[in-house]
Amino acid sequence: MASAPAAIAVSRSTGRGAASVPATSRERFRGDVLAGLALPSRAIPSVWFYDAWGSRLFERIMRLPAYYPTRVETGLLERHSDAVVARLLGGPSSVVDLGAGDGTKTKLVMAAARRRAPTAAYVPVDVSATALEAAAEHLRTTWPGLEVRPVHGDYVEGLAQASRTSGHAPLLALLLGSNIGNLEWTAAVALLRSLRQALRLGDHLLVGFDLLKSEEVLRGAYDDPDGVTAAFNLNLLSRVNHELGGDFDLSAFEHRATFDAGRPAMESWLVSRRRQVVTVADQRFEFREGEAIQTEISWKYTDGQIAALAREAGFEEVERFHDGRRWFAEALWRVGPEAA
Ligand code: AVI
Repeated sequence: MASAPAAIAVSRSTGRGAASVPATSRERFRGDVLAGLALPSRAIPSVWFYDAWGSRLFERIMRLPAYYPTRVETGLLERHSDAVVARLLGGPSSVVDLGAGDGTKTKLVMAAARRRAPTAAYVPVDVSATALEAAAEHLRTTWPGLEVRPVHGDYVEGLAQASRTSGHAPLLALLLGSNIGNLEWTAAVALLRSLRQALRLGDHLLVGFDLLKSEEVLRGAYDDPDGVTAAFNLNLLSRVNHELGGDFDLSAFEHRATFDAGRPAMESWLVSRRRQVVTVADQRFEFREGEAIQTEISWKYTDGQIAALAREAGFEEVERFHDGRRWFAEALWRVGPEAA
C-alpha cells in the first residue's frame, strides 16, 4: 500500500496487534493522524489500514467476487510468467518481492524463474518481520531447496541490499497488486525512481497496474454488497481509538467510495453521519454532518500514463501484458544503459 515513498513499505500484512507496534511506527501513525485530521480537507494515509485486523479484512477483500484485481492479476501471471522471465538474459539471479503479500502470485513468478534459472533465489522485502517470515516459510515449504534471503526493511533499502547480494545475472523485482496506485502521481514517480536507482543495468521491475474501466465495475470493487470494504475502511478509526486513545464512534461514520475521472482514481472516504466532536490523543476535532476524511486513492491507469510513469522514473519499457478485457496490466520495465 502508502503515501510518501518511504511509507510504501506498503505492508499489507503487518500481522501485529496494537500492543506490539514499535514506538517509532506508533509515533508516525500519531503524527499522520493528527496532521491529517487538522487539514482543511481531512485525510489519513492508507498505509495505516494494515494492522492485524485490517490485513485480515484485506485478505477477505481479495477473495470478493467484486474485487477483480487479484483474480485478474493472478490470471495474467499464470499465463505470462514464463514470458516475463524469458526477457531476463541468463536470469533471473533472484526474484525480489516488494511487499511479501500472501505469496500466491509470487509463487507463479518464482516457478517460472526456477524453470529458467534453477538456482534463482527468493528475496521477500517487507517492513513487517511477521509478514516476511510467513512469506519465506510459504515458499520454502513449496521448494525446500530454494535459497531464501528475506530483507527486513522498506522497498528501496531492501532492493538495494538484494541487488548488492545478487549474482551477475539480472534480478527481477516485483511490485504487484497495483500497490503503486495507492500513491499520488509524484509520490509514485519518486518511489519508482528510487527503485530504479537501487537496481543495476539489466535488472527488471514487473509492476502490476489496475486499469481504467467502467465506473460501475470500479464502484462495485470498492463498495461491495457484503460491506467488507466498508469494514476495512472503518477499521482505521478503530485503530486510531486503540492505538492513539481516540474516541471515534464507528456508527457515526460511513464508508463512501467515489470515482474521480480526473486522475482517474477511486477514492475512499469516511463520512460523518452527524455533527460531532472527536478526541484523538487529547486533541479535539469538530466534524460537520457530511464532512469526510479521505482514507485512500486507488489510481486506475490509462496505457499512456503507464508509459509516462516508466519514462519519468527512467525505466525502459520491455513488454506489457493485458487480460482480454484490458482490466489489469503487468508492465515489465528494465534499467537501460542511459539510466544505469
Ligand atoms: C492494496 N491496494 C492496492 C488496494 C486497492 O485496491 O487500492 C487496497 C484496497 N482498498 C480497498 N479495497 C482494496
